[in-house]
Amino acid sequence: MDFNDILKKFKEEIEKIKEFDIKEAKRYFENLKVKYLGRKEGIIPNLFKKLREVPPEKRKEFGQKINLIKEEVEKALKEYYEFLKQVEKEEKLKKEYVDVTIKFKDFEAGSLHPVTKTLNRIVEIFTNMGFAIADGPEIELDFYNFEALNIPKGHPAREMQDTFYITNEILPRTHTSPIQIRTMLSQKPPIQIIAPGKVYRRDSDPTHTPMFHQVEGLLIDEKATFTDLMGILNIFLKEFFGKDTKVRFRPSYFPFTEPSAEVDIGCVICKGKGCRVCKGTGWLEVLGCGMVHENVLKNANIDPEKYQGFAFGMGVERLTMLKYGIDDIRLLFENDVRFLRQFKPFLT
Ligand code: FA5
Ligand code: MG
Repeated sequence: MDFNDILKKFKEEIEKIKEFDIKEAKRYFENLKVKYLGRKEGIIPNLFKKLREVPPEKRKEFGQKINLIKEEVEKALKEYYEFLKQVEKEEKLKKEYVDVTIKFKDFEAGSLHPVTKTLNRIVEIFTNMGFAIADGPEIELDFYNFEALNIPKGHPAREMQDTFYITNEILPRTHTSPIQIRTMLSQKPPIQIIAPGKVYRRDSDPTHTPMFHQVEGLLIDEKATFTDLMGILNIFLKEFFGKDTKVRFRPSYFPFTEPSAEVDIGCVICKGKGCRVCKGTGWLEVLGCGMVHENVLKNANIDPEKYQGFAFGMGVERLTMLKYGIDDIRLLFENDVRFLRQFKPFLT
């Protein structure tokens, strides 16, 4: 056995490691290590086993040569081990590389929900006219939602709003009108507020959902008149729907206002000619309003001899549908992006 041949063969074999990719190279490296240094059948340990068969006088020289080969092999293996580690590290870095200069071509910005846009616009118009914003709880007491609004238990007007009762006395509010009472009980006149919020009713069809939004308005001072109410709502509707919008006040009934009215606008779809949306009348109802009832003022500890005022309430989804020509209210709550995307070009 020529020791030089062993070393030469080893160097050829280890040189080949560069032909493989990193995963195969690592396996190849381990096999080579076992082949040369493996304790059971490794080439070099086998040489040491043969030492016994060597004549004693040559044993020393033979032993030294095996040791030399062993050192060379170990040294080369160590170098290649370092080499493999380096290659592996570089490959890992290559994989983790992030090109921060790549441009996102199809990046799409989100947009406000149409109901949010409508709410923002309503708030903007009224705050510009000097109204402050008031708030109240969504879970309400029967007292604020009905009783104090001149709708005692057993009053037929309770049937006008299908209520989700929690207990006899506690309910998710059916309208934003209880905020009228809460505001009058906590503030002294003059009062000039609007109150946006969610309300709940047992309703579900193409124009009614169990949860929807209302904006309440309330103005109380020593001389507010029905004409002031008409003027303010006229300005609001023309700001919201456009200057040429026709506005009509129609006598109506609410237990908490007297006199009461409902307000219609000229149909935005047919411009008043009569169509399916306005049921041929040319008009669409947009809100309810009236002069605050004497009993309501008394329930809120306000002297009706000294103060008077008006209130109004509008459905935000209703205004959204009319403004954008949406014929099914449920579209507003399905969160279908194909629907929502259409509202991007509209202002506020
Ligand atoms: C009221 O809720 C009164 N509180 C309004 C009011 C306030 C009158 C102050 C006078 C003074 P009404 O029940 O009509 O009134 O509801 C007002 C608006 O809410 C309706 O015109 C309609 O646009 C909307 N609305 C009612 N029910 C639903 C529903 N289920 N889904 C969506 N919108 C609804
Ligand atoms: Mg109504």
